[in-house]
Amino acid sequence: MSAEPQEADDSPYCCCSAATFQEILERQQASPLPFMELLMVHAGCGSGCGSCINELEQYLRANSAYIED
Ligand code: FES
Repeated sequence: MSAEPQEADDSPYCCCSAATFQEILERQQASPLPFMELLMVHAGCGSGCGSCINELEQYLRANSAYIED
């Protein structure tokens, strides 16, 4: 597992947040929040379809940016 930032943003795109997972990750790294709050503040998943939430959680965990609620 690497904590290095990735140059190319080939991460999944969350339509409801109008942001890629990497953009959401960068917001989370700048201002860390528990996962449920992250979904409302850094991402639009909380008021969106929610279909990418599990995938986003795995992505944040893989980048050591997941904070338990
Ligand atoms: S695509 Fe991410 S919450 Fe809808």
